[in-house]
Amino acid sequence: MNLATTYLGLPLRNPIIVGASPCCDDLALCRRLEDAGAAALVMHSLFEEQVDFEEDARHRLIDGIGESHSEAADYFPHYEDYALPPELYVRQLVRLKATLSIPVIASLNGHRPGGWIDYARRLESAGADALELNLYSLPTDPTVDAEAIESDQLFIVSEVVRSVRIPVAVKISPWLTAPAHFLRQVEAAGAKGAVLFNRLYQPDFNLEDLEVHPQLRLSDSSELLLRLRWLSIVSPHARASLAASGGVHTPADVVKALLAGAHAVQIVSAVLRHGPMVVTELLSGLEAWMDDHAYGNLDQLRGALNLARCPSPTAHERANYLNVIQSWRV
Ligand SMILES: Cc1cc2nc3c(=O)[nH]c(=O)nc-3n(C[C@H](O)[C@H](O)[C@H](O)COP(=O)(O)O)c2cc1C
Repeated sequence: MNLATTYLGLPLRNPIIVGASPCCDDLALCRRLEDAGAAALVMHSLFEEQVDFEEDARHRLIDGIGESHSEAADYFPHYEDYALPPELYVRQLVRLKATLSIPVIASLNGHRPGGWIDYARRLESAGADALELNLYSLPTDPTVDAEAIESDQLFIVSEVVRSVRIPVAVKISPWLTAPAHFLRQVEAAGAKGAVLFNRLYQPDFNLEDLEVHPQLRLSDSSELLLRLRWLSIVSPHARASLAASGGVHTPADVVKALLAGAHAVQIVSAVLRHGPMVVTELLSGLEAWMDDHAYGNLDQLRGALNLARCPSPTAHERANYLNVIQSWRV
């Protein structure tokens, strides 16, 4: 059975990637993930705000303006609140590269062009095999339209691609009006891959203290459905590598993502909940399914249920909406 795949031009021994998460902070855990079969590791993101903060601090030092910015600095989240500030992030990447033999993908998270783009080069020099760009921003300003936001994001992609020789993947949001079109533009900007999708953390209201509380809930398999739909729609035309991120928990989830057209899947919640052995379980379940269904390699099944190849394409499209809602009986 051949589980090998290619993602961002990188040959992977199988399609299971550990997605951006705090796992990368723990070298022993990363070694166990590699031993359990993980084919690549994405580091958690280095955030634009971390780099900005560091640059701001450096400028204050150089300019000697000292305390004059201290009030403004209060508005930043506390520097030490972020795991791995920029220097330590680069150092951790070097350590990971020295420890692991699988590809290590560094992640940058930001939405404004700026100095943090230089970090792409530093991460490349430190040995990153690829970069993942998380373009998350929450567009709360009603005067800024979608076109302006997307064109800023595409500018960032092209700037980062221009600054490095390693491949760049873009982790995109599911809440775009036209994800297929955006993906095409991301490809035109030079990205070699797309991760579908970014998972947004939504705050909840606490009715006792009347506060808005951030919360982090791990996913379950139901979140995969949104990924399956869009992977199925974009994969017939995509030139970029595609990775599913969100809701991959079981071998069946892995198979479905591949059938929708993914080259790889990223897992985070499953690892945080069950530990590294979940990777081995996913791989043996994938092999067993392929064996039962007479598939010898991933090329044979990749995209077999996408919009171009599935027996009933309307099931992916709006036409099915009517059938589904009318099938409900009260
Ligand atoms: C604790 C935690 C930290 C995360 N940190 C990052 C991050 O730094 N950058 C990023 O792009 N995604 C981050 N993610 C999102 C994951 O990479 C992934 O997209 C999301 O959890 C959905 O995958 P899952 O269903 O397998 O958990 C994080 C997720 C978790 C649970």
